[in-house]
Amino acid sequence: MAIVTSKEMFQKAYEGGYAIGAFNVNNMEIIQGITEAAQEVSAPLILQVSAGARKYAKHAYLMKLIEAAIEDTGLPICVHLDHGDSFEICKSCIDGGFSSVMIDGSHHSFEDNIALTKKVVEYAHDHGVVVEGELGRLAGVEDDVNVSDEDASYTRPEEVEEFVTRTGVDSLAIAIGTSHGAYKFKPGQKPQLRFDILEEVGKRLPNFPIVLHGASSVIPKYVDIINANGGSMPDAIGIPEDMLRQAASMAVCKINIDSDLRLALTAGIREHFMQHPDHFDPRQYLSPARANIKELVKHKLINVLGCDGKAF
Ligand code: G3H
Ligand code: 13P
Ligand code: ZN
Repeated sequence: MAIVTSKEMFQKAYEGGYAIGAFNVNNMEIIQGITEAAQEVSAPLILQVSAGARKYAKHAYLMKLIEAAIEDTGLPICVHLDHGDSFEICKSCIDGGFSSVMIDGSHHSFEDNIALTKKVVEYAHDHGVVVEGELGRLAGVEDDVNVSDEDASYTRPEEVEEFVTRTGVDSLAIAIGTSHGAYKFKPGQKPQLRFDILEEVGKRLPNFPIVLHGASSVIPKYVDIINANGGSMPDAIGIPEDMLRQAASMAVCKINIDSDLRLALTAGIREHFMQHPDHFDPRQYLSPARANIKELVKHKLINVLGCDGKAF
């Protein structure tokens, strides 16, 4: 099996009322935990790499690790650039073997977002690569960019047809109230998503895959383990799983998850060191961290995304 695009995955997900998990990867243990989980439940996968992940692990290392995971599991895996902010980074990932890129022009004006996205689409499609665009702005922290609640804005459904038609994007990320990071809602605040916007976007773009960023549930079990083992995370509230299932049954075909992976990994390491303060072999503390990633991803694939059994 070679690296695949998300085209066929999204078509089947749209028709089947489920979503593909797009998991952020930074190192070998994370890639192994995710891909072993997907192999056990026969799920298709998108592994996504941010600019920060490329800087941390280097493009070539991540590509080789993902190629190894494909060889090891035989799964269809799409390799995606998460939040590309320029034509240059998208081109570099396309030239370097990715099958999908996101050009995130959501911080630009509507016209500038269209111009930048169109330029990326032209280059990507010439090379057999698919493109995700974004309309609307999520709150939260990604890399060095911190978008405050005041600067965040919901997607305007009346803009989506023009954006998709003029850019030629293959999928569209929209803002309906999710946000990046572990602190999505204020303590005491009831999580709410604008399903009315998603529904309206779905009507205006029939049979077109929609993407949900900032979709970690911030699973309390892992926050509790972190805090019971020397951590001090304040109240963290994520997106309830039933809301993600509802989105997956609608036009959402790709659900992005990073923070939950970070929490599961960190919980595994903290718990291990509290139990074994004398350990210093990385294999000893990274094994339970990798096992936590695997358990978490299996849960997501089966109970949240509904893409188990859909690999082939
Ligand atoms: O949406 C952002 C992802 O969680 C990636 O985070 O830019 O810190 O690697 P990062
Ligand atoms: P979370 O921070 O909710 O995991 O979102 C990740 C994401 O959207 C990556 O693009
Ligand atoms: Zn994102």
